[in-house]
Amino acid sequence: MSTLNPDQLDQAVRPMTAPDIQARKRKNGAEPLVCLTSYTTLTARLLDAHTDLMLVGDSLGMVLYGLDTTVGVTLEMMIAHGQAVMRGTRRSCVVVDMPFGSYQESPEVAFRNAARIMKEVGCNAIKLEGGAEMAATVKFLVERGIPVLGHVGLMPQSVNTAGGFKSQGRTDEGAAKILNDAKQIADAGAFAIVVEGVVEPLARRITEEIEIPTIGIGASPACDGQILVTEDLVGLFQDFKPKFVKRYLDLGSGIAEAARLYADDVKSGRFPAEEHCFGVISKKDDD
Ligand code: KIV
Repeated sequence: MSTLNPDQLDQAVRPMTAPDIQARKRKNGAEPLVCLTSYTTLTARLLDAHTDLMLVGDSLGMVLYGLDTTVGVTLEMMIAHGQAVMRGTRRSCVVVDMPFGSYQESPEVAFRNAARIMKEVGCNAIKLEGGAEMAATVKFLVERGIPVLGHVGLMPQSVNTAGGFKSQGRTDEGAAKILNDAKQIADAGAFAIVVEGVVEPLARRITEEIEIPTIGIGASPACDGQILVTEDLVGLFQDFKPKFVKRYLDLGSGIAEAARLYADDVKSGRFPAEEHCFGVISKKDDD
């Protein structure tokens, strides 16, 4: 018999872990993985009941901070936002992106920075971008207790060598390279892998040929799960809309409209009204 009261029982609900995500391969009968990004406590609280995996993505550099690319994102930014997301999450598996420059130099540097994220955030796992060239680092981290989510295909941190954000795997040579990247990251021990911006036949082939779940973004329904940037999903990030994004809401226009109505009310004296004020002796009481 449980000695926990209902409140404690609720708190004892085990969040989704990296091994839970790893077990979700669709060819073994699992449901598709539902994944979204989150950068704040507020959005984490709203999303948590609906997601299996919540990614504190370095896309926050572009979405929240207005940077042109993710290259300028720092470890401190990722840790602060990771902590905020943990405060809003009860059940999703929380994964924090390692920012550019924090893991490419060597497995040892990667371990030091990944361990710092795991300790200071308390998240379930980290994510890093890269294929064959990062396989030894992924192995080094996993063997030392750090679950790793891989990321192949379009890799935003490589924007400067790639010459822009372009879909990948359109030539036979390009597709073979990405397939090899995914295999090497899977063999190195990653628990799942994000496949970004690749053509459908390649996403299908990767998903069929590796034993860990693929999480697609702009990579077709062939993947074992899907991820989107939440601000794209709700129409809050309006700088551009990638082809693969489905907007479920136009929150951006809603916020602008609310601000316009508020400005009108303040200027015309309609706000604040009596019900928004403290200690006002109402005209009715005066009479
Ligand atoms: O940084 C991010 O949000 C990501 C997702 C788009 C997969 O890497």
